[in-house]
Amino acid sequence: MITTKELKNKYLEFFKSKKHAIIESASLIPEHDPTVLFTTAGMHPLVPFLMGQEHPLGKRLADFQKCIRTGDIEHVGDASHLTFFEMLGNWSLGDYFKKEAIEWSYEFLTEWLKFDPEKLSVTVFAGDKDAPKDEESANIWKSLGIPEKRIYYLPKEDNWWGPAGATGPCGPCTEMFIDTGKRRCSPECRPGCSCGKYFEIWNDVFMEYNKVSEKKFEKLKQKNVDTGMGVERTVAMMNGVDNVYEIDAFAPIIDKIKELAKVDNFTHEQLRSVRIIADHMRASTFILGDERGVTPSNLDQGYILRRFIRRSIRHGRLLGIESDLCIPIAKVIIRLYKPDYPELNDKKKLILDELVKEEERFRETLEKGLREFEKIAEKGDISAKDAFLLFQSYGFPFEITRELASEKGLKVDEKGFDKEFKKHQELSRTGAAGRFKGGLSEASEITAKLHTATHLLGEALRVVLKNKDIKQKGSNITPERLRYDFSFDRKLTDEEKKKVEDLVNKKIKQGLEVKKEEMLLDKAIKSGAQAEFGAKYPPKVFVYSIGDFSKEICMGPHVENIKELGHFKIKKEESIAAGVRRIKAVLE
Ligand code: SER
Repeated sequence: MITTKELKNKYLEFFKSKKHAIIESASLIPEHDPTVLFTTAGMHPLVPFLMGQEHPLGKRLADFQKCIRTGDIEHVGDASHLTFFEMLGNWSLGDYFKKEAIEWSYEFLTEWLKFDPEKLSVTVFAGDKDAPKDEESANIWKSLGIPEKRIYYLPKEDNWWGPAGATGPCGPCTEMFIDTGKRRCSPECRPGCSCGKYFEIWNDVFMEYNKVSEKKFEKLKQKNVDTGMGVERTVAMMNGVDNVYEIDAFAPIIDKIKELAKVDNFTHEQLRSVRIIADHMRASTFILGDERGVTPSNLDQGYILRRFIRRSIRHGRLLGIESDLCIPIAKVIIRLYKPDYPELNDKKKLILDELVKEEERFRETLEKGLREFEKIAEKGDISAKDAFLLFQSYGFPFEITRELASEKGLKVDEKGFDKEFKKHQELSRTGAAGRFKGGLSEASEITAKLHTATHLLGEALRVVLKNKDIKQKGSNITPERLRYDFSFDRKLTDEEKKKVEDLVNKKIKQGLEVKKEEMLLDKAIKSGAQAEFGAKYPPKVFVYSIGDFSKEICMGPHVENIKELGHFKIKKEESIAAGVRRIKAVLE
């Protein structure tokens, strides 16, 4: 059997031979993009560089990246859908373009992975009002020997990738498919059809556009390549199976579930549960073990994590596993992945502690909740109010209620539930963000303070360095410190650092109010609000002002009055790339 590790090694080795620098997998939680919860593709952390910022390692990069996509969560349990997966990618940041990208894809697939060129079909962009038909890519494929009849021209829905968030870099793509040899499901069957005849393994995206609003695309200042190859899918294909759960990366996880369930031969339904647990526990272990750690909560990433864990527990119960499901499985996952993701080992204790807590919490209410569900279900379809009661009193995320209902042929009022849920989230947001280590409200208060301090710091830098054009290039907050990256081309002197600290502290003493307004993005920018360089924002944003001192587009959370912040201190100032400085600071 060809293993996941072998594929990853080959890929990186191949692109090293083509002069690519290998970069580390970035965090699962996007740093530059407030519009999405998770890193959904390898390109995501590279958005600022696709937009033109210089990358410290050059113009050719390759990596494997941990990714989470929740869009297909309902399909998890079949042979190929996953929420967590690894993606291989190579990038050209304004360097090579279609010819090299396609030729190298072909060389790697046929010479290094030994796929039969006769089984390869490709798709290219058919063209529309935003971008022309991609004849150039089609011609490159033809020059490599792919006949016209195996080149399919498809519209934007199929052959356009990005942006990763609401706006940003995107472009037409060419996708590569392996013909599994199955019969066509219909005369229209072609790559992209979901019947399983064609298995997609690689996508080369030619990112030369920037989506600036719902309908508007502009040319980027450079032509980029972004490619993505799903590791699990490709390993499955290389081993001649079309079921991702049969590869080496899943076998020990599935074996552990079998052991816990004390079952050898699963029914079709049980097998679905096994796969859901395997997939969701991988996602949960990686979210908990991420360098930008998140713990279960009812908010944002924390809520997705909670849903993964709770759904696993419910499916475990269907297999007869009544206790201690998460820990044994997470241990297998950590052991399997720690060589490539050492953060899982560093955070092992936190991962296991949080899983135990969440499992205990959910099991306390699960049985009662199931009995309550039975009662509710006797009345027929499930109302929004009842679904919300199951969530609030028994901790049933929506999917669990929906699954239970569909097992009885009943429907749930999803829209109504969403409404109730949003109201509830708004309430908890004002209390505490709860997205960091420990998920304690105390930690959330500290992070809100650091968040507000970040705005003060940005403005203080612009004032002290007498440079209005200093832009935020990234920011990261943990309960311990803030980290702020900004555009500036030299080291700060000790005197300047002191002046920045003094200015921030002076403002804190003045006890300025923090004001929040909702505005259209255009209006916010016109009003002079600061925005992060390269960040993508939704059409409507919040603008936070601190007295007359600072004004920024931001998702919050912030304190109401800065007198709460205490004393601000810079701990470190360093360079992280040409023209980009990083400050780490604390509140004492
Ligand atoms: N971003 C593209 C994808 O995910 C290529 O990397 O398919």
